[in-house]
Amino acid sequence: MSNTNTSTTNTTVANSSIVTNIAVLVSGRGSNLQAMIDNIENGNIKNANISVVISDVADAYALERAKKHGIDAIFIDPKSFANKTEYEQELVKILNSYDTDLVILAGYMRIVGKEVISAYKNRILNIHPTLLPSFTGLHSHRQTLDYGVKVSGCTVHFVDEGMDTGPIILQSCVPVLENDTEDTLSERILEQEHKIYPQAVKLFIEGKLKVEGRIVRVSK
Ligand code: GRF
Repeated sequence: MSNTNTSTTNTTVANSSIVTNIAVLVSGRGSNLQAMIDNIENGNIKNANISVVISDVADAYALERAKKHGIDAIFIDPKSFANKTEYEQELVKILNSYDTDLVILAGYMRIVGKEVISAYKNRILNIHPTLLPSFTGLHSHRQTLDYGVKVSGCTVHFVDEGMDTGPIILQSCVPVLENDTEDTLSERILEQEHKIYPQAVKLFIEGKLKVEGRIVRVSK
């Protein structure tokens, strides 16, 4: 096992000489999971291992992607628990059993609660398909088009207890075009997601991210 990351209240430090165990939480197709797998397999992200993919949706295609790469793929049914706390306690139990150092949300359609946040403080990342703090929550492409902004993009951030509110690590911009539909905009943004999410994970693993309140300092 690993235990690469020493997290203090405000700082996240990783030792790049040991393997970082990553757990990925998903609910759907898993293209960001795939980007992460590819970046680890092609050596762009070093000293990392995706040890488990956990889905809250039984037939999430992301689970198939994981299996194809020999990664443990687990479905946990939130409905089989009395409440969110119990569901998350089970989640934490599984994450701990995989010696998880870093949790990545990749299209995980739930708000992460206290149980997981406190167990993995400053060690949970998410990607959101807008330039935060604009258009948080669901239907972000619809919100973007309806508002009429001319530039959009995506954001990788640390996860706190709010919805898409944690400290921002990286962002990338794309233009919003006159004839865009949710599909065309989403496709343009997704291309950027697949670049900056692995980049952020690499920075985390290399110990280059330091959280100071809301600000994430990225060292060279
Ligand atoms: C992505 O657009 C991501 O930004 C958002 O959910 C979508 C997940 O897509 N959080 P995928 O499952 O990674 O293909």
